[in-house]
Amino acid sequence: MTQEEAKRFLDAFRDGRARTLVHEMMEQYYAEAVLENHPKSASLNRGEIHRQTRDLCTDIFGSVAQVTDDPQALYPLLSRLSRGHRPMAAFWFPEFNEAYENYKHRRKLEIKLEQLKPFLGTGSYADIGCGGGDLVGYLKENYGKFSSYTGIDVMDWRSESVREKIDFRMFNFAHPEGTLADTFDFATCMAVIHHVGRDEASRLRFLRNIRESLNPGGRLLVEEDVMLLPEEIAANSGYQQETGQLRKEQPLYGAYLDLGRQEQEHVLILIDLLANSLTVGVPDMDFPFGFLSIDEWIRLFRKAGYVHEKIKITGFVRGTFNRSSHVIYLLRRN
Ligand SMILES: C[S@@+](CC[C@H](N)C(=O)[O-])C[C@H]1O[C@@H](n2cnc3c(N)ncnc32)[C@H](O)[C@@H]1O
Repeated sequence: MTQEEAKRFLDAFRDGRARTLVHEMMEQYYAEAVLENHPKSASLNRGEIHRQTRDLCTDIFGSVAQVTDDPQALYPLLSRLSRGHRPMAAFWFPEFNEAYENYKHRRKLEIKLEQLKPFLGTGSYADIGCGGGDLVGYLKENYGKFSSYTGIDVMDWRSESVREKIDFRMFNFAHPEGTLADTFDFATCMAVIHHVGRDEASRLRFLRNIRESLNPGGRLLVEEDVMLLPEEIAANSGYQQETGQLRKEQPLYGAYLDLGRQEQEHVLILIDLLANSLTVGVPDMDFPFGFLSIDEWIRLFRKAGYVHEKIKITGFVRGTFNRSSHVIYLLRRN
């Protein structure tokens, strides 16, 4: 994490409305997710899980509050509090860890497949920025319509359970050294582009390099965390309908939509760093926080040589641990 990234996160943390919303989201969604995903869910004491989750969030937010004036202290703090650290901080209570492991290898993937199924295609498949690689392994076993399954990432932190199951390439689409020999008919890129950079040039380079790895007519399915601005929603009846429905189902998403652009960006920054460095347990990722609004992403995709075919606003997806303002874009190589 660079000093710039740490400063940007701490700026977001000092934003009271953004911080309060993210704190509330974590308390509510983590408790719900533990109760839904624990292998012995029925035997859990609901009140006790809510209390332990509240304590967990109080510890995390209280610890970060101690370093708000000291960006250099942020990375060591997050590394120490991360679920990936050994020994693990005591506030990660056993039921949380048991539920999260079960979720990561099962429910998260079931939810993802339900969401992505209407968009998925056929032919050779790659997940770009595959992280743990679990999605590739899961699609291989449960979707089955692709002819090959490859995970690609700039870092190798694949889960043990998928190492033998999937093809993997270590490759940096932002600064390729050499070229990737393979090309693909269908690629996914889930929650990756905002980790690539904040400036348009680096995001364009990344997207154009992916385009070169797609066969003619190939498709790219992107999931991104987005800001939803009132003027963009007002100008598009599809957005109005989808956000209107989500407001009814997810009150905290409604609270997010009511924030201004900068506050929404702060919410995305807080969720991104806290979720990935602490809960997922990978503080060594790059965190340039390259977030855009729903229509700014479309303009970027067009500029990089894609046509957008479908968009779905999914919002704070129920059942998941780390909920953010998600939108799915189905793009075709132009
Ligand atoms: C937030 S994680 C998402 C992982 C996975 N797609 C998921 O949804 O769980 C972002 C991933 O993008 C990868 N990544 C970032 N920049 C990349 C690049 N230039 N080329 C390939 N992968 C990249 C990171 O290493 C990380 O594994």
